[in-house]
Amino acid sequence: MRVLLLGNGGREHAFAWKIAQSSLLEELFIAPGNAGTRQHGQNVPIDVNDFSAIREFVIKERINMVVVGPEEPLVNGIHDFFLADDVLRNVPVIGPGKIAAQLEGSKDFAKQFMARHNIPTAKYATFTKETLEQGYAFLEAMKPPYVLKADGLAAGKGVLILEDLKEAKTELKLMLADAKFGAASTRVVIEQFLKGNELSVFVITDGDSFKILPEAKDYKRIGEGDTGLNTGGMGAISPVPFADPTFLDKIQNQIIIPTVKGLRNDKIPYKGFIFFGLINVKGEPYVIEYNCRMGDPESEVVIPRLRSDLLDLFEGVATGTLSERDIQFSEKCAATVMMVSGGYPEAYEKGKTIYGLNAPTDSLVFHAGTVADGPAVRTAGGRVIAVTSYGKNLEVALKRSYAALENIEFEGAFFRKDIGFDVL
Ligand code: AMP
Ligand code: GLY
Repeated sequence: MRVLLLGNGGREHAFAWKIAQSSLLEELFIAPGNAGTRQHGQNVPIDVNDFSAIREFVIKERINMVVVGPEEPLVNGIHDFFLADDVLRNVPVIGPGKIAAQLEGSKDFAKQFMARHNIPTAKYATFTKETLEQGYAFLEAMKPPYVLKADGLAAGKGVLILEDLKEAKTELKLMLADAKFGAASTRVVIEQFLKGNELSVFVITDGDSFKILPEAKDYKRIGEGDTGLNTGGMGAISPVPFADPTFLDKIQNQIIIPTVKGLRNDKIPYKGFIFFGLINVKGEPYVIEYNCRMGDPESEVVIPRLRSDLLDLFEGVATGTLSERDIQFSEKCAATVMMVSGGYPEAYEKGKTIYGLNAPTDSLVFHAGTVADGPAVRTAGGRVIAVTSYGKNLEVALKRSYAALENIEFEGAFFRKDIGFDVL
């Protein structure tokens, strides 16, 4: 197979690393990729949202599978773009179509979907500029904390959790009337606050059958002890100790099966990953959010635990034969720790030289935000390097990642020293 992988983060480095091990692979291209992905294939300087450049490349290089890492091209309709094109129609795209991607692209769409199919989630209502007054009344009738969510994609910043009613009203007005998150906050979902432990579960589906991947937990806050601003994710572990078999069964029966069936009943084709952002409220799972892709940095622990051939699974997705494919996982634990740029998630500098990437290690060093500059590797994003290790338990895996991080440095580098603190 000649594969084009879209994206440039740690998730895509983990995908590239895994795809490169497939016996089905003839050649791998990554657009645009990073300094890490070039170890496993050829990087091509194409933007993930430049569909016409992608079209040209797919034709020129006789690509026979496109794997989409991030949500944006999916929400923008890359799958539909391929299906509507006479030349590209037969090139499978791993990642859902535009309507299905609304599970991530519109919180209101996702909430309506869950309501329709009886999938447990926080109670909610959706408001627009025209119904701002009703929004105030809805907030007044609720107990704090107040959860406000911009309906559309807002680069992970669109969710506000506020203690104070007055502040909640002010923020609601800023979002709806003053376009605080641009078009993404034309509609705002207000929902009940749920208290519990969060985890993520991932499914790959051909729209008919599905396979469940190992669960993971990510650490979203910048500061130790889960304090400070939200980030894209500072580390992740898999498996999640509190996800026992009984709880995982509930997730499968109450959430995963109704979601896949619901998509089918709604006649929404879905070929790709479904990411279930979940919360455990007194032993019962609830959906916090859907994403239409794999998580990052969750991929950096989930993909390393996958024993099966990823391209074989993708082929199953593409041909609607996923049920005939085998999926197996390592019993080992995996942990990843993210090294980020100083200042992240607020303003930070790029272009810092990264040292120590070639130090001998048993860990997997995934690049999240890097560019190659001749022989040098420089920082190119907030999240820079994710170091993943295996262990017979999480403690061992984490120790190994922290030891490997000792060797890597760049000016201003920061990482949390307490990944896994809550479950060890
Ligand atoms: P989301 O972008 O929907 O994943 O929300 C970002 C984060 O906000 C989640 O990971 C949760 O930590 C938190 N959150 C979102 N919705 C709720 C809720 N209804 N109750 C409690 N926390 C929430
Ligand atoms: N780590 C959370 C996400 O990928 O959305």
